[in-house]
Amino acid sequence: MGASIANRLACAGFDVVLCDSDASAATAASHKINGVAGREATFALGTDITDEDQVSLLVRKTIEKFGKISVLINNAGILFPTEFDQISLDEWRAVVDVNLTGTFLCSRAVVPSMREHEFGRIVNMSSSAGRSVSTLGGAHYTAAKAGVLGLTRAMAKELAASGILVNSVCPGLIDTGMVRGTCDHARVTAYERSFPIQRLGRPDEVAAVVEFLCTDATYVTGAAIDVNGGDLMI
Ligand SMILES: NC(=O)c1ccc[n+]([C@@H]2O[C@H](COP(=O)([O-])OP(=O)(O)OC[C@H]3O[C@@H](n4cnc5c(N)ncnc54)[C@H](O)[C@@H]3O)[C@@H](O)[C@H]2O)c1
Repeated sequence: MGASIANRLACAGFDVVLCDSDASAATAASHKINGVAGREATFALGTDITDEDQVSLLVRKTIEKFGKISVLINNAGILFPTEFDQISLDEWRAVVDVNLTGTFLCSRAVVPSMREHEFGRIVNMSSSAGRSVSTLGGAHYTAAKAGVLGLTRAMAKELAASGILVNSVCPGLIDTGMVRGTCDHARVTAYERSFPIQRLGRPDEVAAVVEFLCTDATYVTGAAIDVNGGDLMI
């Protein structure tokens, strides 16, 4: 989903920095985007978003290259389908660290640049899990994604006066490695049949909403936008 969002933003005219703990994935996505969007300014970094020093380095290098940061998409996430009473403390911490603490660390690191330029757009990837309960993930994933919604509201309230808008996107089941790696084909088909729009979402359908929040949505902050084929209606 991150690659699709980066591609969409590059096509919309943004210079893009991709970061992933898997540096080769970020590099491959960056090469593809350079080809499609014809941009030279897209570059990739291997960064673990749970590591404060690595996040600082990422932000420093980005500002060195581009002068400022206008948009942050907090998209990295991990999920384990572990039953509640089987979740180890290490696994709990890993899921909360990537999905929630990483969002906090990256956001806190970019806010000074956004404040300086009195403009910012931060989009946090929550999930239907954060609104209700995860279809595939365990309690740690649901808790972390619900935490992302609370963090989004708190940041939105504090940062709006500095021109920084902060929103969450809550995808339902989207056809990515996360879903295919957790679910066999028969289970995916059964889920698809249960949705009002009877298929999985595509990454580009989430990316379109993210782009909207980074461009035209000038009076939206603290919101949680559902992109779930009607799976969850609140
Ligand atoms: N696919 C879905 O159905 C779905 C639904 C709702 C929410 N989401 C959320 O959307 C986001 C993207 O999910 P996806 O389906 O593309 O998953 P994915 O597994 O395909 O991609 C997630 C990426 O995050 C990276 N990552 C993991 N830990 C990291 C870390 N510590 N530092 C930096 N990068 C790290 C992984 O290497 C991977 O490339 C996640 O936050 C996920 O929880 C996904």
